[in-house]
Amino acid sequence: MTDAPMVGSMPTSAPSRGGATVFDVHDVSVHYGDFRAVRDVSMQVKQHQITAFIGPSGCGKSTMLRCFNRMNDLIDTARVEGDISYHGVDLYDPAVNPVEVRRRIGMVFQKPNPFPKSIYDNVAYGPKVAGAKGNLDDVVEQALQGAALWDEVKDRLKESGMSLSGGQQQRLCIARAIATDPEVLLMDEPCSALDPIATGRIEDLMVEIKERYTIIIVTHNMQQAARVSDRTAFFTTEVSEESDRRTGLLVEFSDTDKIFTNPADERTENYVTGRFG
Ligand SMILES: Nc1ncnc2c1ncn2[C@@H]1O[C@H](COP(=O)(O)OP(=O)(O)OP(=O)(O)O)[C@@H](O)[C@H]1O
Ligand SMILES: [Mg+2]
Repeated sequence: MTDAPMVGSMPTSAPSRGGATVFDVHDVSVHYGDFRAVRDVSMQVKQHQITAFIGPSGCGKSTMLRCFNRMNDLIDTARVEGDISYHGVDLYDPAVNPVEVRRRIGMVFQKPNPFPKSIYDNVAYGPKVAGAKGNLDDVVEQALQGAALWDEVKDRLKESGMSLSGGQQQRLCIARAIATDPEVLLMDEPCSALDPIATGRIEDLMVEIKERYTIIIVTHNMQQAARVSDRTAFFTTEVSEESDRRTGLLVEFSDTDKIFTNPADERTENYVTGRFG
C-alpha cells in the first residue's frame, strides 16, 4: 500500500502494520423502511487480516458489508444507525465523500460482473474515472498481476472481459477493484459461482494479497471461512419484538480457530457443526 495523500477528509492507512483497527463499529442497526434487518452490531476490523462473515441466509451479512463502503446509500429505503469509523473518522460524517470511500474500500460481488469492454479497459476504467491520464499499461499489468490473472490474459488484453471463464472473470473483477489502489476489499460470496479449482485460486489470492489489503468476505462456505480468514463473525436471525419478521444480529466474533473449534455461544456451535435449523 503506497502512502496516498490525504484526499478530502478521508485518512490514509495507519503506518503501523498488523493489529491496527481499520473499522470500529458501534451499535450499528440497518433498517429497510420500517423493517430492522440487522441490529446492534459492534466489532473491530483489523488491518491486513481477512475477516469472514458467516451465518444463515437473511441474517444481514450483505447488509452489514454494504455499510463499510456506504453502498447502502444507494438503496433508497436503507437507513444505517450507529457508528462506523474508518481509521478513526466517522464514515457517515456529512463531510465524507462516499465516492472517495468506495475508491478506498472496493467491492467484489457474488456474480462476476465484468463490463462489456476489453480486459484492458475493465481494469483501466477505475483509474480513468479517478482522473488518471496517459498510458495506463503499467497500472493494468500491475492490477492483473495482483489478481493472479496476468499470465493468462497478457496476450489477449483487447478481447472482451466477457470472453473469460467464470473464475477468470472474478479475478478480472478483483483486478478492477485493486486498480484504483484501495485499502480494503469487501467480497460478498466471491466464489459462490465458481468451481472448486477457481475457488481455490481466489482463496490463494486472498491469502497472498492480505499483506497489502484488509479483506472482509461474506461466505456460505464454512470450510472457506476456516481456510482463509483470521477472524470470523457469526450472525444469525431472531424474531424481533417489533414485528414477526426475523432480524439479524451478531452472535460471536472471534479468532477463526476459536469459532470453529471452541465457540463461546451455543448458537455458533450449532451452526458450525451443521446442527442449525
Ligand atoms: N434492498 C432491500 N430492501 C428491503 N429489504 C432488504 C433489502 N436487502 C436485504 N433486505 C432484507 O434484509 C435482511 C438481510 O438481508 P441480507 O441480504 O443482508 O442477508 P444475507 O445474510 O446477506 O443473506 P444471504 O446469505 O441470503 O445472502 C433480509 O431479511 C432481506 O430480505
Ligand atoms: Mg448476502
